[in-house]
Amino acid sequence: MESAHELISDLEKLSGPQLQHFVIELSDKARAEAQQSYSNEQQDQFLQKWYGREPGLAWIVFDKTYAKDRSAAAWARYGLQNLFKAPADLYINYGILAEDPEEAFDHLRYFLKTLIARANHPERFAAVRSLWESRNQGIKTAIREHLLKNAKPDIKPRVGQYFNQLSSLVEELFAQKQLITETDGVEEAALARERVDLSLPGVIRPVGSHHLIRQVFQEIEDIFVSIGFSVVEGPEIETPYYNFEALNIPEFHPVRDDMDTFYLELPPSSDKKAAPTPLLLRTHTSPMQIRTMEKQKPPVRVIVPGKVYRRDNPDATHSFAFHQIEGLAVDTDITFCDFTGTIEYFVKQFFGPSVKTRFRPSYFPFTEPSVEFDVSCPFCGGTGTAAAGGTCTKCKGAAWIELFGAGMVDPAVYGFVNYDAKKVSGFAFGIGIDRLAMLKYGIDDIQVFFQNDVRFLRQFP
Ligand code: PHE
Repeated sequence: MESAHELISDLEKLSGPQLQHFVIELSDKARAEAQQSYSNEQQDQFLQKWYGREPGLAWIVFDKTYAKDRSAAAWARYGLQNLFKAPADLYINYGILAEDPEEAFDHLRYFLKTLIARANHPERFAAVRSLWESRNQGIKTAIREHLLKNAKPDIKPRVGQYFNQLSSLVEELFAQKQLITETDGVEEAALARERVDLSLPGVIRPVGSHHLIRQVFQEIEDIFVSIGFSVVEGPEIETPYYNFEALNIPEFHPVRDDMDTFYLELPPSSDKKAAPTPLLLRTHTSPMQIRTMEKQKPPVRVIVPGKVYRRDNPDATHSFAFHQIEGLAVDTDITFCDFTGTIEYFVKQFFGPSVKTRFRPSYFPFTEPSVEFDVSCPFCGGTGTAAAGGTCTKCKGAAWIELFGAGMVDPAVYGFVNYDAKKVSGFAFGIGIDRLAMLKYGIDDIQVFFQNDVRFLRQFP
């Protein structure tokens, strides 16, 4: 028989049927050798060879064969069983021959204790258990069939007693070990569950993009920032003072009809005398003209992107919430020329250098004069005829598209913010973003901006 190390390195080289053959051959050898070891000296040699040189040699053989070929676990166990049973057989035979089998039981007890102590995982545990209690080949059966049956009548009661003691000890050891291996198993299972498989592909989170409205906001902001405007934002919940009065829209002014909005229901004030200030959702971004001028002295050059509200029934061109960018420039020497030049610069940056602008007289209570800016239709080149022939669907043949309202700031507004109307002048404009985005990107329903259908949003990455 080779040394334990040679034996193990031999095992590494073998595979499949060869390995199976090897294990069975090895166990047969162990059995044959054990059966011949009748003298004390021979027994010592046997035990040394099989179990002494390398602690748990048999277990190593078992683990290696098992790990190599799990599907062949049955024969691995079979091989192991023979390997382990060899010393058990030796003790049993020795007990049959001996006058007093006490020593044989001592050996068996020691042997089984060692095996159980080393049965440290479920496969090993199962193997030892079947080695002990297997009906055909188990040690328990062997003791009963040989030691007990063949014992001379005068020592039979004692053999029975030793056997019972050994059995209850072994059962107890199994029970303890089972608890430990079971909890070990729980831990192993938990570890297996939590194990991170680094070879798996990662979780792919789709990268989002800015909403088209936000993209248009940014495009417009960039244009105005490049000519010295700064970006400010204001509250969507406003007081009537900022939304109307300070913008020169007193109560009962007919303009308020177009700017009906949502009012907030406020909890009753604890102070009975004080009438609660009603709050509303702003109908335009113009209140920020007032808030900005209240806070700072001229020169003022701001744009205000934001969401606004009106009591409108939703359809393809109306929504109760939409978006605007307010613009305001106030200084000591701002002329109507600065105003139209600025607007023209913006429109050309946004739609391209070939578009033309025009303005028509209009009316807003907070600008004087007030204008409506139009742009020559960028889609038909200002002809009113589509490239493919027929009327241009964008401008409906008008050649011009109405863009936004604007004007020179009405001097009355300066009165509300303590600006000297004799010294300062300026212009303001309010661009409807949704309409602009619809025009530029050929969208025919304003509602798609608010439905957040990814099939729509994905078209504008
Ligand atoms: N606030 C106006 C509206 O919403 C637009 C506007 C803004 C007009 C600034 C003139 C100056 O209709």
